[in-house]
Amino acid sequence: MIETNKQDDIDEQLDTTLRPQSLDEYVGQEIIKKNLHILMGAAKKRKEALDHILLFGPPGLGKTTLAHIISREMGAGIKTTSGPAIERVGDLGSILTNLNDGDVLFIDEIHRLSKVVEEVLYPAMEDGKLDIIVGKGPSARTIQLELPNFTLIGATTRMGMLSAPLRNRFGVINKLEFYSEEEMCQIIERNGKILGVKTDPQGRVRIAKCARKTPRIVNRLLKRVRDYAQMNDHSIISNNTVAATFEILDIDHLGLESSDREVLSIMIDKFSGGPVGVQTIAAAFSEDVQTIEEVYEPFLMQLGFVERTPRGRRVTDAAYKHLGVKIPENREQI
Ligand SMILES: Nc1ncnc2c1ncn2[C@@H]1O[C@H](COP(=O)(O)OP(=O)(O)OP(=O)(O)O)[C@@H](O)[C@H]1O
Ligand SMILES: [Mg+2]
Repeated sequence: MIETNKQDDIDEQLDTTLRPQSLDEYVGQEIIKKNLHILMGAAKKRKEALDHILLFGPPGLGKTTLAHIISREMGAGIKTTSGPAIERVGDLGSILTNLNDGDVLFIDEIHRLSKVVEEVLYPAMEDGKLDIIVGKGPSARTIQLELPNFTLIGATTRMGMLSAPLRNRFGVINKLEFYSEEEMCQIIERNGKILGVKTDPQGRVRIAKCARKTPRIVNRLLKRVRDYAQMNDHSIISNNTVAATFEILDIDHLGLESSDREVLSIMIDKFSGGPVGVQTIAAAFSEDVQTIEEVYEPFLMQLGFVERTPRGRRVTDAAYKHLGVKIPENREQI
């Protein structure tokens, strides 16, 4: 467990080093970039703060990166926090009153804000006002503070969990898309240079194919491949370098890691391939439900290895075949 945390820390540092600094360096998401150019250009001309922006999409696609880029391109400061970190109304109050004019306030996991905090956020977003209650009981009164102009950038992996009133207060809603193989290769080439390694086209494609269309994963894999190349004196990362590294890491040709295969195996061995509820899977795998739903499941579903049924998740025949497990003859068809 400690080992994993250490690895997470290293990966987080790596994310920061490799984070693109400008919209031009930010690969892909062309529609979002085009819209942002217009939005930012217009706001600069009017010398106003940007409209509030909501970014949503699966983990690791570049929401946090984009928020930092927006603040930098606007020449504004950025304060970052997250939904669960703002526990009390007072926490939000002190964050808001400490902003400077034009600043970006980035709230990650914004769907996890509590209802009471959300209610205070509404007038702040709409009219730049903060209502605070002073005193208690019958002598309590509300005073209203004028806030600096600020831009709220909210990020969420769970659009469906965001309340409608909060969603409606964003002027711009951007959905981040998964990255194409070509875009992934561009990121690998750029990041390889930053990490001081050369990559050849076949090597890049091989990494890209296993990176789940997600830049954060590509960065993690690239770093492991670089370590292998440096240990073994490969001057360039080729298809062979990647294949050898992935073999050691136990990543198969579809990009599944041992933990992904373990999820499938648990579903097959313990629950006859399902249907089984996601809570039960999470408990059997000693993970929380959110991790199963956001980290493991999307890719397994993309590959067509897991399907959702009204009675829970079910492993498909294709997954049995991929794992080399015999499909039970009496398996219920759905
Ligand atoms: N468009 C991009 N071009 C190049 N690199 C990118 C891009 N988007 C993300 N990255 C890389 O991927 C890493 C992860 O991105 P980021 O932390 O912004 O994801 P996120 O969407 O905020 O994820 P989470 O939901 O887990 O917070 C970044 O540090 C950066 O190196
Ligand atoms: Mg993030």
